[in-house]
Amino acid sequence: MPVVLVVDDEPLQRDILKTILQDEGFETHVAASGEEAVTIAREFRPDVILSDLKMEGMDGIELIERVSELKSSATEFFDPTIIIMTAHGTISSAVEAMRRGAFDYLTKPLNKDSLILTVRRGTERTDLLRENLQLHRELYDRFRMEGIVGKSPKMQEAIEIMRKVSGSPATVLILGESGTGKELVARAIHYNSPRRSKAFTALNCASIPENLFESELFGYEPGAFTGASTRRIGLFEATNGGTLFLDEIGDMPPLMQSKLLRVIQDREIRRLGGKDAIKVDVRIISATNKDLEKELAKGNFREDLYYRLRVVSIDLPPLRDRKNDVPELVAFFINKYNAEFGKRLKSAEPAAVKALSEYTWPGNIRQLESVIERAVIMSDGDSVRLKDIKGELRTFQSPDCFDFDLPEEGLNFEELEEKLLRKAMTKANGVVAKAAKLLGMSYKTFWYRWEKLTPNSPPGKKDAPPE
Ligand SMILES: Nc1ncnc2c1ncn2[C@@H]1O[C@H](COP(=O)(O)OP(=O)(O)OP(=O)(O)O)[C@@H](O)[C@H]1O
Ligand SMILES: [Mg+2]
Repeated sequence: MPVVLVVDDEPLQRDILKTILQDEGFETHVAASGEEAVTIAREFRPDVILSDLKMEGMDGIELIERVSELKSSATEFFDPTIIIMTAHGTISSAVEAMRRGAFDYLTKPLNKDSLILTVRRGTERTDLLRENLQLHRELYDRFRMEGIVGKSPKMQEAIEIMRKVSGSPATVLILGESGTGKELVARAIHYNSPRRSKAFTALNCASIPENLFESELFGYEPGAFTGASTRRIGLFEATNGGTLFLDEIGDMPPLMQSKLLRVIQDREIRRLGGKDAIKVDVRIISATNKDLEKELAKGNFREDLYYRLRVVSIDLPPLRDRKNDVPELVAFFINKYNAEFGKRLKSAEPAAVKALSEYTWPGNIRQLESVIERAVIMSDGDSVRLKDIKGELRTFQSPDCFDFDLPEEGLNFEELEEKLLRKAMTKANGVVAKAAKLLGMSYKTFWYRWEKLTPNSPPGKKDAPPE
């Protein structure tokens, strides 16, 4: 039932209005002054406020202001439609009221029919706004999380944590191999958070020289060091109110680690060469593909900072552990690159999907994405075919020095990979680092795959991994 609040300092007028509106099926409350109206509005959240313009104390115009304050501080939907009642001859103040946000005005003496009609239109407007907001919210959520494909339980778990953590300012640490979607997740958290309209900035800690770190993050004042001729604002200040994404946090030099810890604790920064502390409100999301616990043990990463950064942590699974997601990802990227290149591919043929699902994806989703991107460019049919992608998968696993002919049918990538690993090991005389290099793999990846695919073969020479 629509809720109406009648505000009038004349008792008789209030009673008449209340009777008429109740008869029409509105839940009707009354207030004898602007002040009382604010209290009742807060409690009953009316759809329509029907208020006299001229009243002792708070008048109709002031009430509009107060209601709009209530509106902006409300946590749930609250957007009452305000209708002003005014005596003959004060039309100009009625117009002023509309300029301030009233929806319509009625002149006294009131006409019953137009009263009912106007109030009804007012409640319809509020309904519409309410529906709109609902729709908008749903769309927004869907749009923002929609870019993240993954029905597998591990991905669903990650998405669930993202949803929960989006609304809070807690720091988030995202862990996952290269190409698993760490940056995508960081952005999704930001765009689903109340900070969405503020800045999202990213800094890759691995690619910035140590001596530039501080000025990059905190900025500097003129004369702070040779060459600093003007003031520069650092990332923390530029991101105020927003989210700062610190990528490859495992590569942050120790000195910077302690400075970052200070900022997190004190919520303020100092520009280089600057005297004053500047308050900053920045949410930090960091990511790494390193095993941070190991780095802690080795003394390369500060434990106190680690716990500050990982109030919440999200583990992104490697693609090979969620192969069920491959078909959906393939479809997603076909769509994406169709749009980009003006193509109209419908799907990938089953044999292609099968091959893609069986592949081990050392470069994870980024690698899958680029395989599909190229296939979409190359395809002249209406689907991605096995022959469009076979070469990609092959070149990735089999550098020039290894020549394999892939059978058209019954491709089994694990078998193929095992063959390759063994061949590389033989060539490298069992030296893992060498074999890995031959295949263009990292030591870690090679070793992981070797142990997994050849569990019974004699171990290779487990030389010290190159750090
Ligand atoms: N679940 C997913 N659904 C759709 N696209 C994804 C998903 N995960 C990653 N991607 C896409 O894969 C690419 C790589 O993702 P992203 O850059 O976020 O990975 P990353 O973990 O930050 O990698 P790196 O450690 O190498 O920086 C991006 O184009 C991203 O949009
Ligand atoms: Mg990244």
